[in-house]
Amino acid sequence: MLSSIARQVKPTLGRHFHSRAVPGLTAAIGNTPLILLKSLSEKTGCQILGKAEWMNPGGSVKDRAALGIVRDAEERGLLKPGGTVVEGTAGNTGIGLAHVCRAKGYRLVIFMPDTQSREKIELLRMLGAEVFPVPAVAYENPANYNHQAREYAEGRAPHAFWTHQFDNTSNARIHYLTTGPEIWEQTEGTLDAFICSTGTGGTLAGTARYLREKSDGRVQNWLADPPGSVLHSYITSGGKLTERSGSSITEGIGQGRITDNLATEIEHIAGALHIPDSKTIAMVYELLDKEGIYLGASSALNVVAAVELAEKLGPGKTIVTVLCDGAYRYQSRLFSHKWLKSKHLLQAVPEHLHKYIVLE
Ligand SMILES: Cc1ncc(COP(=O)(O)O)c(C=O)c1O
Repeated sequence: MLSSIARQVKPTLGRHFHSRAVPGLTAAIGNTPLILLKSLSEKTGCQILGKAEWMNPGGSVKDRAALGIVRDAEERGLLKPGGTVVEGTAGNTGIGLAHVCRAKGYRLVIFMPDTQSREKIELLRMLGAEVFPVPAVAYENPANYNHQAREYAEGRAPHAFWTHQFDNTSNARIHYLTTGPEIWEQTEGTLDAFICSTGTGGTLAGTARYLREKSDGRVQNWLADPPGSVLHSYITSGGKLTERSGSSITEGIGQGRITDNLATEIEHIAGALHIPDSKTIAMVYELLDKEGIYLGASSALNVVAAVELAEKLGPGKTIVTVLCDGAYRYQSRLFSHKWLKSKHLLQAVPEHLHKYIVLE
């Protein structure tokens, strides 16, 4: 079945298009499998289903946001052929944008904190992006990478467009248009709950809104949150924003404010679960051992949260979460004895799974 993104592009290609193929890389984004996590489903008596977003061409759920943002800018006339896309990012959105920009012929400029790993900078450069590492300072500081990206787009580059992924709601919209409908179709409308963590809030807000509307409010949407994020307490306290404190090994998730993407749906979120890193890291290993799936920490956190939600809701329910990206980008940490010890997480990995900790 063609993804909804592919379906929109296909008619423009006429008779040269083979019906079983998708017309180019951007049409291969989305329409990911929904995988039954067997061992956890048996354990809970619920169907625990994971949306396999690591199978997107750029390797993460953020490929959807990258395409959604670029397509929206094109439609609004903000991005013209040969134009420049400017992003302030340190991770998966940059990678997604790099693929999308190459496929569509745009220049991509990325500002990122200079604390990011050499591998990340090199990967983005290999994918054709121009990368400017800048001092890692707080958001309030004008030298923060996000502000530098905005200023660059506004002032220095002709025909440049700043993606602004946190507050640009075309990010949540692409999940409303694709992730939500895909989950609805793949479960034949039988899901009871959806739960995931948030960075920009695009995945949660867009998917949740679609599922809520389509089910006339029957599907419950929940937030999963790592330490260091303010969203769990915001939801459980009925809307009080606290100071950000603590930190997490998870990357790409956790938030200190209500982004515009999240603001579109947060009042409808049914509840929130706070997941400590010790449970997240144990799940990275358990998913590998029991399901054969090699996932990053944000995905593992989502699965822990789905299991806890299953226990809360009781047997017989169908619960969907997001498997955001693979462990490949993090393996030097997640599978390193030294790193796990330095984070006091070695004991969190069950003894019989220590055979997977192959790096020193
Ligand atoms: C690995 C990973 N997981 C989850 C997320 C969160 O997705 P969203 O920004 O849609 O909230 C991100 C975002 O960058 C990510 O990189």
